[in-house]
Amino acid sequence: MFRSITSPFYYYLLLFSLLLTPTPSGQSRPDTSTLSPSCATRANQSTTIRLPGSSPPTFSVTDFGATGDGLHYDTLHIQAAIDACHASGGGSVIFPPGDYLTATVHLRSGVVLVVGKGAKILGGPRLEDYPRDSKKWYVIVAEEATDVGITGGGAIDGQGLKFVERFDERKNVMVSWNKTGACFGDECRPRLVGFLRCRNVKVWDVLLTEPAYWCLHIVGCQNTTIHDVSIYGNFNSPNNDGIDIEDSNNTAIRRCTINTGDDAICPKTYTGPLHNLTAADCWIRTKSSAIKLGSASYFDFKGLIFDNITIVESHRGLGLQIRDGGHVEDITFSNINISTRYYDPSWWGRAEPIYVTTCPRDCNSKTGSISNLLFINITANSENGAFLSGSKEGVLSNLQFTNVNLTYKRWTNYFDGMVDYRPGCQGLVNHSMAGIIMEHIDGLQMKNVNMRWSDESVQGWDNPLEFKPSTVNNISLVNFSSGLYKA
Ligand SMILES: *[C@@H]1O[C@H](CO)[C@@H](O)[C@H](O)[C@H]1NC(C)=O
Ligand SMILES: *[C@@H]1O[C@H](CO)[C@@H](O)[C@H](O)[C@H]1NC(C)=O
Ligand SMILES: *[C@@H]1O[C@H](CO)[C@@H](O)[C@H](O)[C@H]1NC(C)=O
Ligand SMILES: *[C@@H]1O[C@H](CO)[C@@H](O)[C@H](O)[C@H]1NC(C)=O
Ligand SMILES: *[C@@H]1O[C@H](CO)[C@@H](O)[C@H](O)[C@H]1NC(C)=O
Ligand SMILES: *[C@@H]1O[C@H](CO)[C@@H](O)[C@H](O)[C@H]1NC(C)=O
Ligand SMILES: *[C@@H]1O[C@H](CO)[C@@H](O)[C@H](O)[C@H]1NC(C)=O
Ligand SMILES: *[C@@H]1O[C@H](CO)[C@@H](O)[C@H](O)[C@H]1NC(C)=O
Ligand SMILES: *[C@@H]1O[C@H](CO)[C@@H](O)[C@H](O)[C@H]1NC(C)=O
Ligand SMILES: *[C@@H]1O[C@H](CO)[C@@H](O)[C@H](O)[C@H]1NC(C)=O
Ligand SMILES: *[C@@H]1O[C@H](CO)[C@@H](O)[C@H](O)[C@H]1NC(C)=O
Ligand SMILES: *[C@@H]1O[C@H](CO)[C@@H](O)[C@H](O)[C@H]1NC(C)=O
Repeated sequence: MFRSITSPFYYYLLLFSLLLTPTPSGQSRPDTSTLSPSCATRANQSTTIRLPGSSPPTFSVTDFGATGDGLHYDTLHIQAAIDACHASGGGSVIFPPGDYLTATVHLRSGVVLVVGKGAKILGGPRLEDYPRDSKKWYVIVAEEATDVGITGGGAIDGQGLKFVERFDERKNVMVSWNKTGACFGDECRPRLVGFLRCRNVKVWDVLLTEPAYWCLHIVGCQNTTIHDVSIYGNFNSPNNDGIDIEDSNNTAIRRCTINTGDDAICPKTYTGPLHNLTAADCWIRTKSSAIKLGSASYFDFKGLIFDNITIVESHRGLGLQIRDGGHVEDITFSNINISTRYYDPSWWGRAEPIYVTTCPRDCNSKTGSISNLLFINITANSENGAFLSGSKEGVLSNLQFTNVNLTYKRWTNYFDGMVDYRPGCQGLVNHSMAGIIMEHIDGLQMKNVNMRWSDESVQGWDNPLEFKPSTVNNISLVNFSSGLYKA
């Protein structure tokens, strides 16, 4: 019923990675005297067909006038290099060492940005640095492009700290450009990198840092590979998500390190379903959810695998927060170590290692459902228990927990005794802690599940397993154990 980890999906990804082979990166400044004239001619040879076997051309942004001094806007020069590269049939646009301040630049089909070691692209901090349409507020954006990518060992920096209005250890207060009428709500800030309705996207070996809002945004794409990417965001800034994948198929994320304030890997559905996403070999720390499906969940999620992931000191580990009617099925979480703790309750999350919920966001929302979830080889150290809460119209069915070790202990001073249905639904509700709280479930098998409780902090925990037979049907426990340990 569950696809094994070595599905055909992996094989085609292998194929795909061969397809987009990295072009030589611009670690050293290329010889501009020879490159410059050839770029100029290439720019006007859009009809020339490159012979197979010849290596794709490279275009250095400095040859197009970029200063890389971090003070002058290099926008037009970067864009000219990208456009010339695209017109020549594709290749690499190279950023030699330097700081390249820029307004929004548009990545075109066939172009790979090679941000070399020692090079940094700095997103502009002003409203006029971004397009009129707030949906297109990115430092770098590709729309309807094919065979596009970013690599090179350098960094892309959204200068997110310039968007902090007031620093606060609990949660920073961010600027919202809503005051200009550009968009509404308090999340009116630019994202860092976006691929919108693209095919064959590859982002690898690059640091994405300090986004003002979401960091790497994949929307309506097919065939996306993201690997060896480091993502860093201020731990106290809201909405600086790591990777948001929306309405996209065939996405592979590997060997990523994500250390940020808001959700780290976050599949969502707004306008269409999301199929076949794999995230493996990653390290995550966040003040929100490490893995989160939702909360935007208007369409289905199917065929997702999360494997070999380390989650440290996060507010929530593995989360499904389904609020808008989408159905979720065939999801595997395997070989995952989790540590979750409480933070300020203004952030969603209550230190749950595992959180699976469906409920209608508001009275106009439909209720989604979840089926075929497998949690296998999971170890958690957490300040709170797991929360598995379907709803009347949106039951959780066929859940399996196999080889799951849950260790419970309190080590922060934040208050406990609340369950978190946010966003919407019942909100925060007073409720004593339990090892696993279950509501509205049909079919749950637990095999080799061990609970261990610190003898120092057993107070406040009511039941190892809490459920009502009226809402939880067909559960079986094989090799369940629970015991105290000496802290
Ligand atoms: C998802 O992967 C499965 C199995 O590899 C494949 O059969 C299916 O066509 C894929 N779905 C999409 C939308 O590509
Ligand atoms: C995605 O990659 C697979 C395998 O390389 C290929 O068969 C498929 O056509 C690609 N899809 C798109 C939309 O390019
Ligand atoms: C390319 O051609 C256009 C018009 O055909 C011309 O205006 C432009 O200067 C040319 N660019 C280069 C780099 O030669
Ligand atoms: C604008 O954003 C601020 C937060 O920065 C928020 O308090 C306010 O409600 C927002 N106003 C509108 C009209 O959305
Ligand atoms: C993803 O696959 C589903 C199922 O085949 C399809 O309905 C959807 O349009 C695909 N999305 C994209 C962006 O290609
Ligand atoms: C798990 O991921 C880590 C990187 O976080 C990697 O070093 C390790 O080799 C991976 N383990 C397996 C079995 O793939
Ligand atoms: C989880 O912890 C165990 C024991 O410390 C270790 O062997 C394993 O490699 C860890 N796995 C991950 C994904 O962190
Ligand atoms: C769970 O704990 C048992 C006993 O300490 C150990 O044998 C097993 O390997 C652990 N499993 C996981 C997935 O951590
Ligand atoms: C779970 O862990 C066991 C023992 O380490 C291993 O043999 C098995 O392959 C793992 N299962 C999965 C799905 O990774
Ligand atoms: C929830 O608990 C807090 C702290 O004990 C208490 O102040 C509050 O009145 C309770 N709320 C409800 C709705 O019972
Ligand atoms: C109980 O749930 C298991 C899966 O968790 C399923 O295989 C089985 O058919 C269910 N039994 C009944 C009587 O519904
Ligand atoms: C139950 O646990 C024991 C001891 O750890 C083990 O020998 C046995 O194989 C387990 N049974 C199942 C069904 O996993």
